[in-house]
Amino acid sequence: MPDNYPGHYPATRMRRARARDFSRRLTRETQLTVDDLIYPVFVTEGEAVDVAAMPGVRRHTLDGLLREITDVAALGIPAVVLFPVIDPSKKTPDAAEAANPDGLVPQAIRAIKREFPELGVMTDVALDPYTSHGQDGVVDDDGYVLNDATIDILVRQTRAHAAAGADIVSPSDMMDGRIQAMRAALEADGHVNTVIMSYAAKFASSLYNPFREAVGSAANLGRADKRTYQVDPANTDEALREVALDLKEGADMVMVKPGMPYLDIIHRVKETFGVPTFAYHVSGEYAMLKAAIDNGWLDERAAVLECLGSFKRAGCDGVLTYFAKDAARWLAPAD
Ligand code: PBG
Repeated sequence: MPDNYPGHYPATRMRRARARDFSRRLTRETQLTVDDLIYPVFVTEGEAVDVAAMPGVRRHTLDGLLREITDVAALGIPAVVLFPVIDPSKKTPDAAEAANPDGLVPQAIRAIKREFPELGVMTDVALDPYTSHGQDGVVDDDGYVLNDATIDILVRQTRAHAAAGADIVSPSDMMDGRIQAMRAALEADGHVNTVIMSYAAKFASSLYNPFREAVGSAANLGRADKRTYQVDPANTDEALREVALDLKEGADMVMVKPGMPYLDIIHRVKETFGVPTFAYHVSGEYAMLKAAIDNGWLDERAAVLECLGSFKRAGCDGVLTYFAKDAARWLAPAD
């Protein structure tokens, strides 16, 4: 075929729309903004300490937390989620401290709400920071996590968080039937507008280890695992059933966790249910990226924004990420 044959060109040139910045902007299908971010923060009863496997992440004292939150609020991040580091002397087999209305989390909620009433405050409803054995529930003599006995204390923990002013309570325990019990308790207490974001599809992942170091539950858990309650990473239909049940029981928003290795689950959840869907870009994912970034192997800004953007493309409404402050800074309009 001669080179100048008039029909000798691709019928569709996909590169045409990519050729200039203005048209790349016009044809962009999804966009990550500061409105998509939830920032996880660690608060401790002891001294402030950096988390070794999570460079840039610190366990804050209450005062330090308020300084941290001043930055978060100034950046326009809509919400934070609180994780407590509990003094080992307060950890017991039944996690009684979890329901203390004046415990560390209720104190932190009150302190934040006093200074930053507009900031969304979300709490983790789970017992692992409070149990001497590091599990997310109370256990029998064989170490099996008891479902219904655990729900009793989760409900008391929920009430304590809501009474202190939590906007969103977020159960990460994976017990069966806990959403219904929590919703009933919130309604009974008059907290009709307290949102439940359930960790609906939470997988038994190896990517939570840095977090367990951060909250100080790793040593308590030892060699035990959470596979009798968290979902097998090989399963999809089971994850969807979990989401369906949590929605039926009254969850307002659902979460998939971990994040990037589970984009397929996120996509199916959003397609199937069309409800507010979030992902937790977990500690191990943060650690992986940071390790490569700190070695100079990845460009931080480009890599992090691409990874966080993938959650939007997969169908997420938002993402819990330890990169929230960095992302908010990079996404801020230039002034
Ligand atoms: C515990 C909880 C975990 C995380 C959030 N809540 C860990 C676990 O299930 O062992 C993990 C978060 C992260 O890895 O960043 N209920």
